[in-house]
Order: sequence, then C-alpha cells, then structure tokens
Amino acid sequence: MQRRQLLKSIASLSAGAFILNLPLKALSATKQSPQFVNYKELFNQALNNSPELIGFANVVDDFPPQVLSVEGKIPADINGTFYRNGPAKHEREEQRYQHLFEGDGMLQRFTFSDGKIVHQGKFINTPKYQKEQQAKKFLYAGPDTPIQHSLPVSSSGMINTANTNIIPVGEDLWALWEAGSPTRIDTESLEYREQIILGEAGKYNKTLQGLPFSAHPKVEANGDIWNFGLNPSGHIVLYHLAPNGQPNNVALINTRYQGGMLHDFLMTDKHLLLILPSLKMKHSSDKSRQGFFSQIVFDENIPMRVLVIDKANLTLKKEYELPAGFAFHYGNAWEEKDGTIRFDASLYPDVDVLHNLSNMMKGETNNAHTKAQTAFFILKPNGSASHVLLDTTSEFPRVCNHIVGLKNERLYHLSSKHDSLWSDTVCALNTNSGKLVSYDFGKDFLVEEHIPVCPQQKEGTGYLIGTALHVPSKRTCVNIFNIENIADGPVARAWLSHHLPLGFHGNFKIS
Ligand SMILES: [Fe+2]
Repeated sequence: MQRRQLLKSIASLSAGAFILNLPLKALSATKQSPQFVNYKELFNQALNNSPELIGFANVVDDFPPQVLSVEGKIPADINGTFYRNGPAKHEREEQRYQHLFEGDGMLQRFTFSDGKIVHQGKFINTPKYQKEQQAKKFLYAGPDTPIQHSLPVSSSGMINTANTNIIPVGEDLWALWEAGSPTRIDTESLEYREQIILGEAGKYNKTLQGLPFSAHPKVEANGDIWNFGLNPSGHIVLYHLAPNGQPNNVALINTRYQGGMLHDFLMTDKHLLLILPSLKMKHSSDKSRQGFFSQIVFDENIPMRVLVIDKANLTLKKEYELPAGFAFHYGNAWEEKDGTIRFDASLYPDVDVLHNLSNMMKGETNNAHTKAQTAFFILKPNGSASHVLLDTTSEFPRVCNHIVGLKNERLYHLSSKHDSLWSDTVCALNTNSGKLVSYDFGKDFLVEEHIPVCPQQKEGTGYLIGTALHVPSKRTCVNIFNIENIADGPVARAWLSHHLPLGFHGNFKIS
C-alpha cells in the first residue's frame, strides 16, 4: 500500500470514531445508573466461601521491593529479569469492574541475580490511572462497566490501561494493551514515561497515534517486531517494526471481520497469520449483557478464517477456512519447503470463557467453563486445511524466543487437571514424538503463564519459569523448572510474603 493511501485510510478510520478496538460510543459519557448488580458486594461475599477468588481481588497499593524466600537452589546461570503484567485495580469506592480485562495494569518485576530474587510490583501510572487516583474513583466507563456521569472519551490514550503484556524493546519496556498504543516504561524505576506514538520521528509523523496495537507482538530472531491491531470496523493495522521500535512498514487491510475481538496472531519466516475466530457482536435486550465483551457471541456457522499475509509487503496473499472455533492464544507457526504451514492453538469450542471471566468478577466460581485443548493445524498450498485436537487442556502456550516463526520441537503450556478456576499444571509437549510431560501443582495452586528461558538458544535447554498463587497461604511463588525435567517439579521456588493478582503475560530478559 502506498504511504499516502495508507495515511488517508487511517485518517478515515479516525474520522469514523472507531479508532478504538472498543467503539467509542460504548465508552462515552453516560448518565445511566451504575451497575444494578453490585459486583463488589457479591465478589467479597463469595470470597469468604471461595478463597481461590483471591487472585481476582483488588490491589490497593504498589508492592515495594522484597527479597524472596527461596526453597531449593536457584541455578547460578539464571541472571536477568522476569516481567509480568495484568489487571490489578478492579475496584474504587463501591464500584467493581465487571470484567477481568478492565482493571488498570500492574507490573511485576522479579530480578534474578547471584542466586537471589527480588520482587517489586508497581501500578502503571497511565493518564487514566493518574486521573482516577487523584479523584479516588473511576472516571471512565469500562468496556463492560457503566460508570455514572463518566467522562467522555475521545481517544484511546485516555482509557489505555496497559494491562496485558510487557516486552523489552531496546532499553525500554513496553506495556501493552490491545486497543491503543504501547506504553513506555522506564526499565530501572518502572515509572510510566509516555504512550508511544509509533514512527513519530519519521515519515508517519503522528498518524499512528492511538491506533490499536495488540498485546501479542511476535519478535523475530533478528529482533524485528511484527504485530497487528484490530479496529472493530473489520480493518486490521499491520506493523513491521525494527528492533528499536521504529516502523519499517505499516499497512491496513479490510478483513470484514465483525467479531469485535482478536487477541493473538502468528508468524512464520515468510508470512503473518491472522486467524479470525467464529465470533460476532450481538446486541442483547438483557440489561445485564450490554457491555462490549458481553455482546461478543460465538456463531458455529461462521468458519474460522486464516489470512496469510506476505511479510515482504504486508499484503494479503491467501485465505483458508477452518471449522468454527475460538482461541485467545497460539503457540507458534512455521512453514515447510513446499509452502505447507503448520501452527498450534489453544482452541475453545465456543467463547464461554470470555463471559466466565465476567462471572468470576462477581464471585461466581461454579461456571466450570469449557477448557481449551491443544490443536495442530495444517494449511496446504492447494488451499486445503486439516487439524488434530489433543485431549490435554491447554492455555498460555509458549515456545523459546529464538524459534518463533520456525519449526519448534517443544511447546510449553498450562493445563487443568483439577476442577480449577485457573490452571494448575505446567506441560511440555514434544511436537515430534507427541510425548507430553507435566507437573501438577495440586488443587491449592492457581498457576500462571510459564515461559521458556533458553540462554543457549537451543530447544530442550534452559528453564521454564512462572508464577503461581498458593491459595491456603495467600502467597505467590516463582517456580524454576529444569526445562527437560518438568515432571520432577521445580528445582527452586521463591516465595513472596503475600499474593499477587492473577495476571496475563510476561517475558524474561536475560542479562
Ligand atoms: Fe493474551
């Protein structure tokens, strides 16, 4: 796409008031009465009988630096920093957000050095957070939560909560949401710096300001960053950034996708894969289901579509149809010599999980939702597609950083062996042999994303590192597994004196 044409197209998107992934009209000033179901009261009542809900409880303040108490021995060759991000400010005054995705982001930093781990947790001081801290109340309606007399929203930057992922870029950290720009964070102090205007210093000037930028960018082995951002109109912005975050190329395609939400994508060495799930927006007359996420429904008559984008020029090259399905997350994709594309997904048969993340915010734990299962897809050059579904439940799939977009022989993910509210097991799947090894933390733990850390850039070497919340003691621990012996349990476990809110994603920066 010619730059002039791109800029014109982007400008027209802005003019259409759909610059947000969340339609602005859904977030504009409302005089409607605040939630008629008191989420805060219901949640706190439920917490008395369902202690596992503690992971969704509100966090009041930052967590000052704390040296963790270590069980076992932290391997001497792990030096670096493990960053995580997730929503933590769920409540102000008597108001509690109605969906887990709405809370303000909080960074967790675990610094590994000389066999010790120091933790610090800090709210991301976004413009929204600053303003609401000062006011001591929520000022803006959330995607699902109406706020009485909420302030009008005219740009995504006003409500960007930066609450989903955190990646190192150059000397900075980028905290990611998905409906707006990345947020620059100071690596040393964890202080908020700014909402990044991609390409501001170059040819794009301010035209990319506030555009949706997903929380799941893919970083190539050479450091190049690839990403997408969904506009609810069905237009998707595609990004190719240099390792320092400067745009090499940005394009816009009209996919006509009307599902409202697209969370993750994939990349091979030649192509980007946009996998559009079987979702649509459906207005409900039910007053309790009029939020943005509430209106996203699954339609088994809508096939999943895979759009294959040429990385060389960010244009659509091919399209495949898959059976109806939905996935938040994908592990990896790669391409064979004949052009066959293979990828995996944590595949759900519907989108109930999205709505159960709202039910949990009012304390409902009896909604044992359908879990995702690992699925392997094959896209043939002749246009045919097939897949196999494994029995294992699966979420938060990850591969080693150096192998993103290339053939991976290991896939790491979480699973649920008990009737868990969250996950309780970590798994390592050998994608060649199909052999699966796992470690079950037990029903007392809520296990979060575990990430492979491979300093030697060789699959099967290194560590698997992640956090888990131990419900009975109300404490969170960091777990370090020898990556080839996961079933033996963690070689070291480092404990905080308190628990952390359940978060979403993180990354380890090796020093
Ligand atoms: Fe995610």
